[in-house]
Amino acid sequence: MQHQHVIGATGTGKSTFLANQAVQAFEEGACCVVIDPHGDLALDILRAVNPGDLGKVYFLDPVRVRFSLNPLELPAECHSREIAVERMIGEITEFFRKFYGRQYWGPSLNRIFQEGLRALYEKDDAPTLGDLYDLVSGRIRHEEFEKELKKLPRGRTDAVLNKLAPFVRNRFLSRILCSKPASVRIEELMKPGSLVIFRLSRGEISEAVSSLLGSAIITQTWLHAISRESRFLVILFIDELQIFSHLETLCSILSEGRKYAISLVAAHQHLKQLPEKLLNDLLGNAGMRVVFRVSGEDARTLARALGNEDISERLISLSDGRAVVWIRGSFREVERIVEISTLPLIYRNPFSEHATDRMRKLFEIPEREEEFADPEIYELLHILLEKSMSMSEIFEKYRKILPGVKASYVSALVERVERLGFVKRNVVKQRRGRPKIVVELSEKAVELLDLRHTSRRAGGELHSKLAKICAERLRKDGCAVIFPPQAGREEQPDMIAYKRSPDGWEEIAVEIETRADHPEQVMRNYKKNIRKGRKVIFVVPDERIAERVRKILGDRDYTVEVTEYF
Ligand SMILES: Nc1ncnc2c1ncn2[C@@H]1O[C@H](COP(=O)(O)OP(=O)(O)O)[C@@H](O)[C@H]1O
Ligand SMILES: [Mg+2]
Repeated sequence: MQHQHVIGATGTGKSTFLANQAVQAFEEGACCVVIDPHGDLALDILRAVNPGDLGKVYFLDPVRVRFSLNPLELPAECHSREIAVERMIGEITEFFRKFYGRQYWGPSLNRIFQEGLRALYEKDDAPTLGDLYDLVSGRIRHEEFEKELKKLPRGRTDAVLNKLAPFVRNRFLSRILCSKPASVRIEELMKPGSLVIFRLSRGEISEAVSSLLGSAIITQTWLHAISRESRFLVILFIDELQIFSHLETLCSILSEGRKYAISLVAAHQHLKQLPEKLLNDLLGNAGMRVVFRVSGEDARTLARALGNEDISERLISLSDGRAVVWIRGSFREVERIVEISTLPLIYRNPFSEHATDRMRKLFEIPEREEEFADPEIYELLHILLEKSMSMSEIFEKYRKILPGVKASYVSALVERVERLGFVKRNVVKQRRGRPKIVVELSEKAVELLDLRHTSRRAGGELHSKLAKICAERLRKDGCAVIFPPQAGREEQPDMIAYKRSPDGWEEIAVEIETRADHPEQVMRNYKKNIRKGRKVIFVVPDERIAERVRKILGDRDYTVEVTEYF
């Protein structure tokens, strides 16, 4: 199949055209991989598939299914490992460079990034961004790399760490990107007749993550396509192509794809969105161009590319759903230009939770302790502590905390927290008007927030009194306070308070010491929290105990609070 270039203003029907093409190609037995950074296309395709074919569909949405995909993982079978490694390194570096802006990404950053990754790939086919963070910060030792670092100006490593931090320190992201082993491997989904849909909604997971995951999928699809033995047809559908325009792989697919039986169907809005190299490859290599309504300048350029300058006027005035299609000539056929009406999409199955459930069974990874410790979750619970709220009330609250936040972000968060079982939705009858759906805390949340103030430990009543007073004070201060369950592998503090600060989250661990008569225990409580980057507060009942704590810990970094409890 020829590559297809789809272009046109927003709302003219590009995504719908892509959806119809994907469903048809899937029905004809091609392996289709769809990347949708918007979100609607993915759901549309899923609804348009024949119910009987749903078993061959993989529908992956990080908001709905807790999967993981490592953008740095090499395919199991590589044509040439060396080339694959260099491609991986090149693409991920370009992603970061584009994401942070070229002016903030100098040569030493580039060098640390690339050398670091090369060092990791020496021993590992699937290093993660987390590994890179650990290597640069010195937690993973590597002699050669350390020598490299010494040659560079000081402070450069910090710059790299700062740039990696948002991806490896955020629990939601590190779960997706850095879990080992990853639960989704593209090559395992690429089978004849399978339809792999990635819903990477920018509004819900951010443009950066959408772009990072999409880029990884494109690169891995390509690397697998060129290394596989069986050459069945693979078609890669990419909507909003400009988000991935930094990828050299796109140029490779366009120029060499036919050799490896992989085709690209890509859509975007206007020509200026793409860098020159990619645009030229697209104009030169697409065997089919589908032009919906475009602006004057693009119309002239495209008319020239179609070899028919008279058509430019037509391209400006096409109505929604209509397109001018150019098909390249071949030995058997002459070049053609036709104007078409595209078809609306026909839904053949209601979007069923079915597909998502199946994906959960196949790809979900176990919840990790760290994921539970996601402050975003607790902030929502803190908000709902005041009262149960409708979605729009929650949204209003968030707009005060995070001006400019999108509604889809908030609803994705609520959905995630609901899936973890911390909130539930309830229908509440109103005195007047229609019943209202409110989000409220679940039993599990009540327990986590310790609203009943059960005493959890030996030390009993006093412990529990101090905890209650301290939690109330921190909550008044705007902190989201939880009493982490002591079920996991690691020992947890008595209480954790999360507070938003301009550069992320501040985590405060509260340790309640009613007696402090085991110095090694106090020291352990201090260290385990400091290691996690938390501030530590020791809450004690009187000055005598406070003195004991100070004697054990000396002038380390902590606070002791004597709490009146009568
Ligand atoms: N051929 C068509 N007939 C009827 N409605 C269509 C057709 N193509 C698209 N639409 C509708 O027009 C709207 C915009 O289409 P979409 O494919 O999302 O455009 P784009 O991706 O270019 O922004 C959608 O609501 C879609 O359902
Ligand atoms: Mg679209």
